[in-house]
Amino acid sequence: MANVSVEMRGSTRPSLGKMDTQSLVTPGPIATPRPRAVRCSMRNIWKSYGATPVLKGVDVRVPEGTFGVLVGPSGCGKSTLLRLVAGLEEPTEGTVELAGRDVTDLPPRDRDVAMVFQNYALYPHLTVRENMAFGLKLRRSSEKEIEARIAEVSGMLGLELLLDRLPKQLSGGQRQRVAMGRALVRSAQMYLFDEPLSNLDAALRAEVRIEIRKLHDRIGATTLYVTHDQVEAMTLADTLWVLNKGKVEQTGAPLDVYERPRTTFVAGFLGSPNMNMVEGVLARRGGQWIAEGGSVTTPVSADRFGNALAEGRAVLMGVRPQDLELARPDAAIATLKVEFVEALGFEAFGYGWFRVSGPRIVAKLPAEAARRVRTGDAVPVTVDPDRVHLFDPKSGLALDVADS
Ligand SMILES: Nc1ncnc2c1ncn2[C@@H]1O[C@H](COP(=O)(O)OP(=O)(O)OP(=O)(O)O)[C@@H](O)[C@H]1O
Ligand SMILES: [Mg+2]
Repeated sequence: MANVSVEMRGSTRPSLGKMDTQSLVTPGPIATPRPRAVRCSMRNIWKSYGATPVLKGVDVRVPEGTFGVLVGPSGCGKSTLLRLVAGLEEPTEGTVELAGRDVTDLPPRDRDVAMVFQNYALYPHLTVRENMAFGLKLRRSSEKEIEARIAEVSGMLGLELLLDRLPKQLSGGQRQRVAMGRALVRSAQMYLFDEPLSNLDAALRAEVRIEIRKLHDRIGATTLYVTHDQVEAMTLADTLWVLNKGKVEQTGAPLDVYERPRTTFVAGFLGSPNMNMVEGVLARRGGQWIAEGGSVTTPVSADRFGNALAEGRAVLMGVRPQDLELARPDAAIATLKVEFVEALGFEAFGYGWFRVSGPRIVAKLPAEAARRVRTGDAVPVTVDPDRVHLFDPKSGLALDVADS
């Protein structure tokens, strides 16, 4: 087992080693070795329930062996998209491909994908071990293989001591881990996860998140993972797709999307607390481009926005709380009137406004500042001009995108 895992490691381009060839010609999922990871492509997917479209022309391409994350708010269509890959839903229009083969009309059992459902149901009369073994038995894996797979996966998910319990004897988080284990013991060419960590407490969520990514790196299976949690999206994804109301707003590597959000929606969705947005107007002062409005005056990057900069142009200035820094009054871009301070121990956030009746502004404060900054204080802040995002107030598009 260990050897095979090592061979499959980072298998974006798997070698045609003996084990791989064997797994290709062996029909159906056998516990070991795992089948080859496949690429998954969804093209121009439309899905309507009755007259209501919930997916509107979605393109998602997960390269083989990589970890893709669909992230977006509740109701944006994430689960629907995942169920389309599994074959549990049919698109109204568009195609789903696995390994370059059109599987749009194939039933779920012929797709060889394993899925962890958002609303999982365990077999109540079966123990944890039997729940995990169920699918493998159906596929006629040998007892030895089943045992080995359950040992591996239960170890990874911290379920070893619970294997002989029934679901009703487990907490919600433990049940969720069993549901995940049931999918992971299967050896599939693609894994689909629908919010698999939502019932876990914060510490366990962080731990299992790391385990999921480690497992992926070890076996190199193509994975598509759904979450509305931006920390999961940022930390797990090779590529993420930000969905909003049935459309992909932006796709890319997590840090690229975080640093260069193309729309106000993406800017607001990724990052916590949300990006501050202030209405303003562009101007030139002493050879330098600035944006001003709402009691803020900040230089902006001519390199980044180039041709989009025009005097008098209305903009939304976007600055993340983490990019606001305490400053001397003469070097400040604005002054934060503090309403309250949220001290988290390792860091603190000051909430307030730049201008009365203006939008709420949040600034990250050094942890030690939490003890001296008080409600009612006026705190001068500044920002690195490269960290100022500009958006078109009408279209919501980043200026560098809107004008390119
Ligand atoms: N079978 C159905 N019939 C009618 N509408 C549906 C059906 N399934 C989903 N929808 C609707 O489609 C939209 C997308 O649902 P979906 O479950 O994909 O959202 P989601 O992004 O997974 O949300 P969440 O984060 O809350 O799980 C929602 O508005 C939902 O009400
Ligand atoms: Mg869902």
